[in-house]
Amino acid sequence: MSEPLVLGLESSCDETGVGIVRGRTLLANEVASSVDLHVRFGGVVPEVASRAHLSALIPTLERAAAKADVDLADLDAIAVTAGPGLMGALVVGLASAKALAAYLNKPLYGVNHLVGHVAVDLLDHGPLPMPSLALLVSGGHTQLLHVEDIATRITEVGSTIDDAAGEAYDKVARVLGLPYPGGPVIDKAAQQGDPSFIRFPRGLTAKHDLEKHRFDFSFSGLKTAVARWVEQRRIDGGAVPVEDVAASFQEAVCDVLTAKTVDAAQHLGVNSILIGGGVAANSRLRTLLEERAAEAGIELRRPRPALCTDNGAMIAAVGSEVILAGVRPSGLGISAHSGLPVSTIVV
Ligand code: KG4
Ligand code: ZN
Repeated sequence: MSEPLVLGLESSCDETGVGIVRGRTLLANEVASSVDLHVRFGGVVPEVASRAHLSALIPTLERAAAKADVDLADLDAIAVTAGPGLMGALVVGLASAKALAAYLNKPLYGVNHLVGHVAVDLLDHGPLPMPSLALLVSGGHTQLLHVEDIATRITEVGSTIDDAAGEAYDKVARVLGLPYPGGPVIDKAAQQGDPSFIRFPRGLTAKHDLEKHRFDFSFSGLKTAVARWVEQRRIDGGAVPVEDVAASFQEAVCDVLTAKTVDAAQHLGVNSILIGGGVAANSRLRTLLEERAAEAGIELRRPRPALCTDNGAMIAAVGSEVILAGVRPSGLGISAHSGLPVSTIVV
């Protein structure tokens, strides 16, 4: 099968995503977000997210099938996020995918959400260069990965030892009185600010940290530094320069992410870098990494921002890649794994 027609279902957090691909061609990518329901809580409420998936799944599936102009009976396979993510949310997608697979009599693949983020660029820019170094930056994960084969072999090179990058954005937004999710609003505010206004700490970049944590990240000290700075400014009775704080915070995050990514690629001797996850939509991360990768003579693959955040197309893309690699289907007996490690590409 050279170009399998694959449906991808994503429900690990607050986005219900349904994507359809034919081989490496994107046919449809419909996303229903429950983010509005979580805003007043300042973060995703798992039970609310699960219920929203339940009501959004069928309409989103219908929209995707119409957009792709395909009959579900013509699918070659169904791929679904098996983890990592919120247990209840994952279960809704998994149960729906199993029901569809049984009804349509199609093979089912339970795939890794994180691998979806890393793979999605192939829908934008064609087959992935391999081996590659991937920077995965989302709300729950921040990892450097050695991608030897997107369908069969991915190993972790480093990861955050505390907060994820997206989590730091969300927490700093809260400190600055900006809404959830913090990433897009800080990105926007930062564009009006001065990134050199405050020199915030760069986690795990001191010489003694590099010995043990050369490819690891830490963002909780940065988050605390921002909170302290803002608090002190308020005690002093001054107005908080939100744009400058946002830009200075963002610069600290992106400086460390990009420096360690290029260092890891050079260390592994790979000539290409992939990025994925919600924070990969960040404008500063994208330009700074482009500059630093170019300086190092390394190719950078950046999916369009809309494909960086959670969606079903990235799950369909992994489904298609594993089929092309001859990986066997998961079967209907699979369960959700909230802590699925990135090295498990298909359950
Ligand atoms: O990958 P994703 O959609 O969901 C998870 O798997 O976690 O990532 C969501 C995270 C949130 O923390 C959000 O604030 C962040 O991605 N994010 C951004 C941007 N857009 C989304 N962070 C920085 N800049 C952005 N433009
Ligand atoms: Zn994600």
